[in-house]
Amino acid sequence: MTGNPPIARLTRAELLREIGLSPLWQLRPQPTVAVTRHVTPARLPAESIPEAREDLARRPPSTPVAAPAAARPVAIARMGWDELRQSVAGCNACALCQGRKQAVLGVGDASADWLFIGEGPGAEEDARGEPFVGPAGKLLDAMLAAIDLRRGEDVYIANAVKCRPPNNRTPEVAEISACAPYLKRQIALLQPRLIVLLGRAAAHAVLGNVGPLGALRGKPFEFPASECNGRRIPVVVTYHPAYLLRTLPDKAKAWEDLCRARALMRMEKAFPAESPVGPAGPLAP
Ligand code: URA
Repeated sequence: MTGNPPIARLTRAELLREIGLSPLWQLRPQPTVAVTRHVTPARLPAESIPEAREDLARRPPSTPVAAPAAARPVAIARMGWDELRQSVAGCNACALCQGRKQAVLGVGDASADWLFIGEGPGAEEDARGEPFVGPAGKLLDAMLAAIDLRRGEDVYIANAVKCRPPNNRTPEVAEISACAPYLKRQIALLQPRLIVLLGRAAAHAVLGNVGPLGALRGKPFEFPASECNGRRIPVVVTYHPAYLLRTLPDKAKAWEDLCRARALMRMEKAFPAESPVGPAGPLAP
């Protein structure tokens, strides 16, 4: 018999090669970015941290206990959706909280296969409490429609930071790091089949400090299984819709990225990723 082997006989690696997504890039552990708090540190449920529990046991019951800085990501990593929403709404872990009308956690189907991650809320998102409702959001909706997706139906949309940066500037590294535990928890709760990163801030939040966006497009990344209940999640990087509104020629490249994402999703559904425990997670705690 001649020709290519039937698709069902190809391995996952061979299939990735077939759709131009090979070799697979492994995420490296990223250095933790120190976040300075500008306001009183949040009081977290100290009982949830072993060291804090011991310390708590030594104190008289009425003594207030400020949670150690390391307690925050640990506490967030245990939250369900309601707690997460409440925590994000009252978060003061970075200076962005000072300018927000409201924090914007995300929107969509909590059992979605697709997770799209943008940069941070703009003025309209800050006012409405929903990501991507301004002009960039209209383009994102059109991008979704182009691959037969609709906001809220099998799609969840989140941002690297949950509070609006002043004058819609790009979030700083420390702000992305402060919000990273929330994004990480959203990913773990959602367990999407595929993550699409829209722009540099999202790439920075999920992949670490990884250079220009153009160098990331077309490269296959995976969110490690150790960060998501033993399931590795393919990650596709593309341009942010706001950038595409200013740079029309790059829309064609974004379309290529979406087509690649769609092909990858089809493959994920047909051949779910094996899940050996991968390298340490890239999101700063
Ligand atoms: N840009 C983003 O990155 N996110 C939004 O929610 C809105 C605009």
